[in-house]
Amino acid sequence: MGALLGGLLVAGVSCAAFAGGPVDEELVIDGELKITTRTAAPEGHPLDEVISGWHYRTKETRELEADSFENPGMLYVERGEEIWNTVDGSSGKSCASCHGDGQDFLKGIGANYPKWNAAANKPFNLELQINACREEHMGAKAYKFDAADQKALVTFIKHQSIGMPVGIDLSQGEMQTWWDKGKETYYSRTGQLNLSCATCHEDYNGNYIRADHLSQGNVNGFPTYRLKQSAMVSLHNRFRGCIRDTRAEFPAAFSDELMALEVYVTWRGTGLSVETPAVRQ
Ligand code: HEC
Ligand code: HEC
Repeated sequence: MGALLGGLLVAGVSCAAFAGGPVDEELVIDGELKITTRTAAPEGHPLDEVISGWHYRTKETRELEADSFENPGMLYVERGEEIWNTVDGSSGKSCASCHGDGQDFLKGIGANYPKWNAAANKPFNLELQINACREEHMGAKAYKFDAADQKALVTFIKHQSIGMPVGIDLSQGEMQTWWDKGKETYYSRTGQLNLSCATCHEDYNGNYIRADHLSQGNVNGFPTYRLKQSAMVSLHNRFRGCIRDTRAEFPAAFSDELMALEVYVTWRGTGLSVETPAVRQ
C-alpha cells in the first residue's frame, strides 16, 4: 500500500458521526418493507458479512431511501413503466405487447441478473437484454450506453424485485469463468496509486477517503440515485468512475472486463435485498 493511499485515507474512528463502521440500523421502506442490508457472506467470500452501502451514508441520505415519496429515484421508476408500455420500432410493439404487465412479469428477474445468454455466449445484464429485445423483437435501435430511457427502464425493472435477495446462477454456461475473470480484475492493483477494488472496498471499508465513507461497494441498489449528480447512475458508470480514479485508461461500458466485474461483484452481494432505486451521495 503506497504512502499515497495513506494520505487519502482517514481512519473512520476519528469521525464521531459514524464511529468508523456501518451504522447499526434497519432499513424499512415506508414502514412496511423490510430490506436485508446485512447478511452472512456466501461461501468463499473473503468477508464474514456483506453489508449494503446504505449503512455508510448519512442519516439524511438513509432517510430519503426509506421513504418512497421522498426518494427522487422513484420518478425514474415511473418513467420506466411508461417506456415499458410505449410502442417503439418498426414492429409496432411495446415491451408490454409480449411480456404483459411489467409488475407481474418482472418480479424477481432483476434479482438474478447478470444471467448467462447462450445465443450471445456471454453473460447479459439487463441493459444488454433490453437491447436484444429492442433489436430482435421490436425492430428498434439498441439504446446507447446511459441513454436516459435505458436508465429509467433498468430502474423500473430492478425495482420490481425490491426486497428480494440478490442471487445469480453461476452454474449456467461459462458463468464461472467470467466470475474468475471478474475476481482477477477486482484484486488487480493498477494506476499510479497502485489500488485495486479490494484495497478500498475490502481492506478499507468503514474508513474515509476525503469526505466519502467507504462501503463494501455492493451493487444491490443499482441504478442508484446520486445526490451529488442529481441523477440516476448506472452500474457501469459507477465502475468506470471508480476505475478512473485509479488509472488513466478505463474500460468501455459492457466490455468483457466490466461484464466480468459485474458478475463477480454481484455475487459478492449475494443475499442482500435489491434496493433499487437506492439513494447514495
Ligand atoms: C416481440 C416480443 C418481445 C418484445 C416486444 C420484447 N421482448 Fe423481452 N423477451 C422476448 C423473448 C422471446 C424473450 C426470451 C428470449 C430472448 O432473450 O430473446 C425475452 C426476454 C426478456 C427478458 C429476460 C427475462 C428473463 O427471465 O431473464 C427481459 C428482462 C425482457 N425480455 C425485457 C424486455 C423489455 C424491457 C422490452 C421492451 C424494451 C422487451 N423485453 C420487449 C420477447 C419480447
Ligand atoms: C480509491 C478508492 C476506490 C477504489 C480503488 C474503488 N472504489 Fe468503488 N467507491 C469508492 C468510493 C469513495 C465510493 C462511494 C462510497 C462508497 O459506497 O464506498 C465507491 C462506490 C462504489 C460502489 C457503489 C456502492 C453503493 O452502495 O452504491 C460500487 C459498486 C463500487 N464502488 C465498485 C468498485 C469496483 C468494482 C472497483 C474496482 C474496479 C472500485 N469500486 C474501486 C472508492 C473506490
